[in-house]
Amino acid sequence: MRRGPPYDSACSRPLGGNSLSAIEVQQSQDMNRLRWTFSPLLAISLAFGQTDEQDRRFVAHIQEALALKRGAVVADIGTGESPEQPLHIAKAVGDSGKVICIDIDERALEKLRRTLNENGLTNVQTRLGKPDDPMLPAHSVDAVLIAYAYHHFLESGAMLAHIRSALRPEGRLVIIEAISEMNRGLPRERQIKDHELSPGILGSELKAAGFEIPNGVEVLVENGGVLRYLFSARVAK
Ligand SMILES: C[S@@+](CC[C@H](N)C(=O)[O-])C[C@H]1O[C@@H](n2cnc3c(N)ncnc32)[C@H](O)[C@@H]1O
Repeated sequence: MRRGPPYDSACSRPLGGNSLSAIEVQQSQDMNRLRWTFSPLLAISLAFGQTDEQDRRFVAHIQEALALKRGAVVADIGTGESPEQPLHIAKAVGDSGKVICIDIDERALEKLRRTLNENGLTNVQTRLGKPDDPMLPAHSVDAVLIAYAYHHFLESGAMLAHIRSALRPEGRLVIIEAISEMNRGLPRERQIKDHELSPGILGSELKAAGFEIPNGVEVLVENGGVLRYLFSARVAK
């Protein structure tokens, strides 16, 4: 099974450093090719040579963190054009549930809608958000997923405040991010430049916004010096 270097999920380029070996350059090119063929998460899986079983566990971990139930209403904020997470969530919540895919990029949402229509899904909607507001009414969602998108939020404090009020009691906020070993101690601005965010910084921001994280950092995969992790947060009591 091929094991690649660390890659950024958003930009499909290697993480953590500027000097690349010939193999890394080749793998980076492979990654870019995959990026345009598959969704970012699937491309990462392929680049890391993940098995179907590892992929299944990755998805299952995210769904468990979201505490998905049939009939649940789930918002995926920063979906981009990838239907991957919405499709998994739509299946888990069933026809009585709903997935709301939110992004600030209308063109990405348009592409996403086309793919969703091809899949004939009736329980997935798209919504144009604002940079500081996901446009979710108060107490309207059972779970929120933000996968590799939080570090893009320019108004993360305002976004968290809106999400906090949109969550129903016992609702979950699951944020997935990645951090390479060499960037862990760097300032926030430097980390997000590399499309990364450390658990230390993200955890502090969640707590400052009134969330608690009962399980702490949950490792999704650690590979090539890069930790991909999630936080499953609740509104603090
Ligand atoms: C890396 S991409 C999406 C990755 C996708 N969630 C996945 O897991 O494959 C990050 C997305 O976040 C979106 N974004 C950035 N700021 C946002 C905001 N304030 N609200 C909603 N989406 C935002 C961008 O437009 C982009 O589509």
